Amino acid sequence: MMKHLLTLEQLSKDEILEILNLADQLKFQKKNGIAHPILKGKTLGMIFQKSSTRTRVSFEVGMHDLGGQALFLSSRDLQIGRGEPVQDTARVLSRYLDGIMIRTYAQSEVEDLAKYGSVPVVNALTDYCHPCQVLADLMTIREFKGSFNGLKACFIGDGNNMANSIIVGCLKLGMKMSIASPKGYEICEHIQEFAKQYPGMFEMTNDPFQAAKDADVIFTDVYASMGQESEAKVRLEAFKGFQVNKELMAVAHEDCMVQHCLPAHREEEITNEIFEAHADEIFEEAENRLHAQKAVLVKLMANK
Ligand code: CP
Ligand code: NVA
Repeated sequence: MMKHLLTLEQLSKDEILEILNLADQLKFQKKNGIAHPILKGKTLGMIFQKSSTRTRVSFEVGMHDLGGQALFLSSRDLQIGRGEPVQDTARVLSRYLDGIMIRTYAQSEVEDLAKYGSVPVVNALTDYCHPCQVLADLMTIREFKGSFNGLKACFIGDGNNMANSIIVGCLKLGMKMSIASPKGYEICEHIQEFAKQYPGMFEMTNDPFQAAKDADVIFTDVYASMGQESEAKVRLEAFKGFQVNKELMAVAHEDCMVQHCLPAHREEEITNEIFEAHADEIFEEAENRLHAQKAVLVKLMANK
């Protein structure tokens, strides 16, 4: 039974599939104008210590669709931004809210919010992972490919929050997974250890063409994530050759999908040509944030 969504590691394969199935159902209801006020009267607080377009809007609209409301809490305005400890913030907010969503830097802050608070906590991106995004990605893959069976997923670029969650999500659902990152920008030891539970299913390399070979879905993400703006120039140099382009797509399967969490930096991690050729898949992925997160909110906050 899920109490929080802090990382994908904490979910079983069945729990992930249950979320995806419910997300499909909620998407159908939304598309067909069938009301689903499952969280009527409930309030979600949304703490943002970093910028957001998709996450903020999809959570806010999602709570509205579910009959509840969402409060946007920018750290610029909260006392947490002036140093009030997360332990105290958690205990105070738990007395007003039915759930808390947080986007921040340190994973430990999200874990502390869950530890000291008494309501469900949803991780809406940390430097370590982005589980909400990857639930939407998995939903999109199944929508386009029909199932996860026999698929190979590939990530090109930084061994960052997106790479971490993609590796965990894809391996849990039975896909093969490969990642190519420049030297010095590989995924952390913790995720490498996680992948060892899936012998023969995971490959880590510094060669994008090796990773992309026979892929059914290719993921990428920006070279410099939020909080790494000062490294942008150095990274631009380090990531040369790590681009999703026509040449790279040529070694993947002919019907290979492309996924990008967005925002994208065209002509850096992905060419404009490939981005536009796969825009349907990429914007369906963005839409699915709404449906997947509504499923998470229902699982965590209904009947509580
Ligand atoms: N993909 C994603 O999380 O987008 P935002 O930063 O706009 O929320
Ligand atoms: N890796 C990116 C993802 C943005 C959704 C970042 O953390 O900025």
